[in-house]
Amino acid sequence: MEEVIKYINENREAFINELKDFLRIPSISTLTENKKDINDCANFVMEKLKQAGMSRVKIFQSEGHPIVYGEWLGAPGKPTILVYGHYDVQPVDPIDLWDSPPFEPTIKNEKIYARGATDDKGQIFMHFKSVESFFRTVGSPPVNIKFLIEGEEEIGSEHLEPFINNNIDLLKCDAVLISDTSLYAPGVPTLTYGLRGLAYMEVEVTGPNRDLHSGTFGGSVGNPINTLAHIINKLHDKDGKITIPGFYKDVLKLTKKERENYKLLKFSEKKFAKELGVSKLHGEKGFSTLERIWARPTLDCNGIFGGFTGKGAKTVLPSKATAKISMRLVPNQDPNKVAKQFTKHIQKLAPKFVKVKVSNLHGGFPSMTSLDSRATIAAAKAMEKAFGKKTVFIREGGSIPIVTVFAKKLKAPVVLMGLGLNSENLHSPNEHFDLNHFHLGIISSANFIKEFSTA
Ligand code: BES
Ligand code: MN
Ligand code: MN
Repeated sequence: MEEVIKYINENREAFINELKDFLRIPSISTLTENKKDINDCANFVMEKLKQAGMSRVKIFQSEGHPIVYGEWLGAPGKPTILVYGHYDVQPVDPIDLWDSPPFEPTIKNEKIYARGATDDKGQIFMHFKSVESFFRTVGSPPVNIKFLIEGEEEIGSEHLEPFINNNIDLLKCDAVLISDTSLYAPGVPTLTYGLRGLAYMEVEVTGPNRDLHSGTFGGSVGNPINTLAHIINKLHDKDGKITIPGFYKDVLKLTKKERENYKLLKFSEKKFAKELGVSKLHGEKGFSTLERIWARPTLDCNGIFGGFTGKGAKTVLPSKATAKISMRLVPNQDPNKVAKQFTKHIQKLAPKFVKVKVSNLHGGFPSMTSLDSRATIAAAKAMEKAFGKKTVFIREGGSIPIVTVFAKKLKAPVVLMGLGLNSENLHSPNEHFDLNHFHLGIISSANFIKEFSTA
C-alpha cells in the first residue's frame, strides 16, 4: 500500500493537470447546443478509464446522453466495487458573476475553479486516479472494479434507470461507491447515509383569454398572479408545516440516536445564517436546521413568472401565471404519490374564477444506506486513515435519485464518500473544488479498495 500512496503523492500535480483537461469540456446536459461536447466528454472518460487500467471499456448509446462503462475483473474470488458518477454539468448562467471563465479551470488558494469541479468531475476523477495508481505500482488493484459514468444526472438520469434494469448482470457488484456529496466541514472525513428525494411540479393558472388593460378590466376578473400567490401562500401553515393532506404520512421519524448525533456535530446556526446573509433562519417548527435540511421534507417555489417583468411600468392584467414548485422528500415518501397529493390539493385550493393546470416535471426517490454494511465500515476506516481523524456520518438535503435504483436492483450497499463542500458553489457561479480534498479523496479511494478487498 505504501507504494500506491507514494505514487499518489508524487503525482499530485500531474493529476491536477489531467483534471483540468476534463474541466475544459463544456458537457452541459440540459442544452441541445452542447450535444457534441457531451459526446466529446464521454470519449474523454472512456480514454481515462483505459488509461486507469480498465480492460474493457465501452460507450453505451442511449436515447439520451452516452453512458460510459469500464471494467477490470482480474481479481477472481475478490469483491467487486462499482464506481458511479456523472460527467455532465449544470449550465453556467449567470455568466457575469464568474470571476474566471467556467470552462477555463483556474487555481486560486489551492482550489480549482470551473463548472463541474466539485459536481462531479473532480470527484469521479479521484477514483480514476486511485485505480490507476494500483496498476502503475503493485500491478493491479486487489478487487474487481467496474465504472458506470453517466451524462444525465443533472437532468434526472432518465435513461440510466432502464439501462441498469437491462444490465443487472453486467453491473453485479458487492458495493457501489459514489463520490457526489459533501464533507460535513473542511478536513472532516464524512460518509453520507441519507439523501432526500424530489417531486418537481409546475402550476399554471389561467384567467382571461388574453392580457387585459388593468384599468378598464381591473375589478372584473380574477388576476392569475394574485391567485397563484394566494395558492402558494396556503401551502404552509404558520408553523412552517406543509398543508397537503397525507403529506407527512410516510415520513420516517428521526430516531433519538440521530437527533443526539446531530447535536454532537456542533453545527453553528449563527455562523450558517451569517454565511447566507440572513438575520434569522426559518423553517419547520420543532426541528433544528440540520434536522430540517437532512430529515424533514420541504416545499419551495423555484421560480414564478407571468405578466409584465421588464423594466419600468406597464399596466396589465395578465392572462397567465406559472410557478415551479419542488418538494424535497425523505424516506419513505414516494414522489409519485406526493405528486398526486399535491395536484389534488392545488385543484382544491384553486378558486372557480381561474383554470389551473398542474404538471409533474420529474421526481426521484429519497434513500438511506445501511450504516453497518462491510462496505460502510471499510469506507469509514479508509477515510479515517487518509484524513487522520474520525469519520462522521451525516445525511444530505440534496438528491441523487439513482441511488435507490442501485440499492433495489443490484442489492448492493451504497457508499456515499463525497469530498465536496456545500460551500463550493455547485450549480452556481464560481464553482470550485478544494485540491487538498481532491488529493485526500484519491488516497481515501485507494484505502477503500484495499480495505474492502479483505472485508
Ligand atoms: N451532486 C448533486 C447532489 C448533491 C448536492 C449531493 C450537494 C450532496 C450535496 C447532484 O448532482 C444534484 O445536483 N442533484 C440534483 C438532482 C435532481 C436534478 C434530480 C438535486 O439535488 O437537485
Ligand atoms: Mn452531482
Ligand atoms: Mn448537481
